[in-house]
Amino acid sequence: MSRIADFRSDTVSRPTPRMLEAMTQAHVGDDVLGDDPTVQQLERKFANLFGKEAAIFVPSGTMANQIAVAAHIVPGEEVIVEASAHIHQFEGGGLSRVGGAHVRTLQGDGGLFAFPELARAFREPSVHMPRTALVCLEQTHLFSGGSILPLEYMQEVQTMAGYHGVPVHMDGARIFNAQAETEVSFDAYGATADSVSISLCKGLSCPVGSLLLGGGAFMERARRVRKWMGGGMRQAGYLAVCGLVALEETLPMIAEDNARCRRLGAIALGVEGVRLAQETIDTNILFLEVTHPTVDAPMVESALNDYGVATLAMGDRLLRFVTHSGITDADVEHAAKALQKILQEL
Ligand SMILES: Cc1ncc(COP(=O)(O)O)c(C=O)c1O
Repeated sequence: MSRIADFRSDTVSRPTPRMLEAMTQAHVGDDVLGDDPTVQQLERKFANLFGKEAAIFVPSGTMANQIAVAAHIVPGEEVIVEASAHIHQFEGGGLSRVGGAHVRTLQGDGGLFAFPELARAFREPSVHMPRTALVCLEQTHLFSGGSILPLEYMQEVQTMAGYHGVPVHMDGARIFNAQAETEVSFDAYGATADSVSISLCKGLSCPVGSLLLGGGAFMERARRVRKWMGGGMRQAGYLAVCGLVALEETLPMIAEDNARCRRLGAIALGVEGVRLAQETIDTNILFLEVTHPTVDAPMVESALNDYGVATLAMGDRLLRFVTHSGITDADVEHAAKALQKILQEL
């Protein structure tokens, strides 16, 4: 099998030929010394796009999120997160290790907090309790299958947090997939949070990089945190230039990734032995639950591999498919047929 249709994650997406060409032509400097013009251009463009004062280019989404927390709170303060949020579950314990956060998890539904529960989670000032210092949101919400947080929901969370003087951080790793569906302007999304992290290396297909966006004294602190975390990069313009290309080239294509995911989900609905493990397919992530009595998710993952289809088994029952720029219509049809055949034969 020569070509693998790689549905494991959108992080496997490769830079386009135009990005590779742009890398060879990029004007660079030393960004730690503050004179890489391409990094500066990237930071300005994305800050403007989201209506934020400033941005910093960092190596990963994890670093962008953890810098945000460390710059928003002081150790021992409390951060409210949805229980399955990436920032809490999949960032190596960074919330406590890097930011020294006291973490308060709330069980969400489709990534959404129940408002009455959120309202109760803000603590009254008390010498006995940690101070509530930050609320984190995730757009799109990975674990509920790339579900989109409605703009009005985000505005309401911001209003509630604002009432208590608490800032909001948005992990917008896949906000581009959400925006392609909702067509809410990026600055409207940006206005719902004090800080936003966005990823260049998922739907946008850049090889490396994220940005943290925000304003004022927060961004001054964020720059310092990036420094002590070792996130300063020297001739980073060679990477940053891909983000500039992405704005013109891959951003306009993201709706197609979402559509391919919906197509895959629609076919999977008719396959005996699996069922959708999420209520809707809003964007580019599909979780299937393997319901077959004698077959589990790792077995299906391994059998799909033999057909040249890479997926991610998560536990015994869940199988994850993520569409991105490297997945074609033909890959979707092939993966669906392979799934059907495997579940008939296993
Ligand atoms: C929702 C979400 N946030 C943050 C990240 C972290 O990004 P990175 O892998 O660049 O550290 C990911 C990675 O998959 C993610 O899915």
